[in-house]
Amino acid sequence: MSPASRKPRRPPTKERPIRRIAINTGGGDAPGLNAVIRAVTISALNRGWEVLGIRDGYSGIMDPENYPEGGVLQLTRNRVSGITNHGGTILGTTNRGSPLHYPTRMRDGRIVVRDRTDDLVQALRRHRIDGLVAIGGDGSLSIAAALAAKGVRVVGVPKTIDNDLDKTVVTFGFDSAVTFATEAIDRLHSTAQAHHRVMVVEVMGRYAGWIALNAGVSGGAHAILIPEIPYDLKLVAAALRERFRQGRPYAVVVVAEGARPRGGMHSVLEREVGRSERLGGVGLKVTKDLQAALKREARCVVLGHLLRGGSPTTGDRLLSLRFGAAAVRALSTGHWGVMVALDPPVVRYVPLADATRRMKTVPLDSDTMLTARELGVSFGD
Ligand code: F6P
Repeated sequence: MSPASRKPRRPPTKERPIRRIAINTGGGDAPGLNAVIRAVTISALNRGWEVLGIRDGYSGIMDPENYPEGGVLQLTRNRVSGITNHGGTILGTTNRGSPLHYPTRMRDGRIVVRDRTDDLVQALRRHRIDGLVAIGGDGSLSIAAALAAKGVRVVGVPKTIDNDLDKTVVTFGFDSAVTFATEAIDRLHSTAQAHHRVMVVEVMGRYAGWIALNAGVSGGAHAILIPEIPYDLKLVAAALRERFRQGRPYAVVVVAEGARPRGGMHSVLEREVGRSERLGGVGLKVTKDLQAALKREARCVVLGHLLRGGSPTTGDRLLSLRFGAAAVRALSTGHWGVMVALDPPVVRYVPLADATRRMKTVPLDSDTMLTARELGVSFGD
């Protein structure tokens, strides 16, 4: 990885100078998207570049007929003024219709997926876009890697509340999600205690347990179930029973949406061609099973999309602004096909292909895991 502040590895090329760049936001939204958009826009305008924002992932330029008022926004200083602390994205986003796996209905009614990245490259050319900043998670950055392989000057910015992107210590959005989840867990302690109940909190995170682990440990949860450790409910119940026996007759259990029982599968709510499966339901299952096993009232709270909403924390704002500025620095120094990545204390560039090769899950020997174990948290193993 090369530091974003030093000279790039890629030597200056004879590419035509950048005059116009585009920004897009793809996948699920995360607090900090608008801060990245602002940093990219101002850094680019300061270099004399023009900045366009593509609406709803790439839909604004791939399906312009759906945007009578234009699928592309001219990003000016006024347009990005005062948005650093705003949740969501002023460009809109989508986790449907990936150009890599674009769902298309066949004559016989079947829906198949096809690669539309060539159409996308053409669309970028039609808009005379010389450089692209793609803000997104694994799906969006895989599209960016495919575009880079086709010669598009693209720099990726790692976004996801799930923190499951490799090659960066953290993604923006994660801190805001964990902060909110921790506050929710804090609040559940008193009602659990008042009613002598078990409160189960389901949090997002897909196949990685980062949100559950960090919020669970910070919020003093008594059991944390993560996808990396298939759980045995009997062991969770035994740990809670022991806690009750010691005179603390209530408990808070954090369950990652991708958690699964030993020998079982994760709970899927919905499957659709060309889209990631929607996870959910495990919190309710754990709640019912614990109520039956412990003969004690249990309630389930699903935090879901609340984790994606609201203002970014200070940490996420600063990280997003740093990522946005570094992305423009990369383009201006002829460095592309990379993702900006946090490697404290610096922001570095890593090849997009490396960043999207594997999912970053919780290492079972990490310090946070060891801390949780020292504190007596049950993982159901
Ligand atoms: O990737 C972020 C994420 O928040 C996951 O944790 C969750 O499974 C998914 O998005 C849900 O996305 P949506 O409901 O928008 O399809």
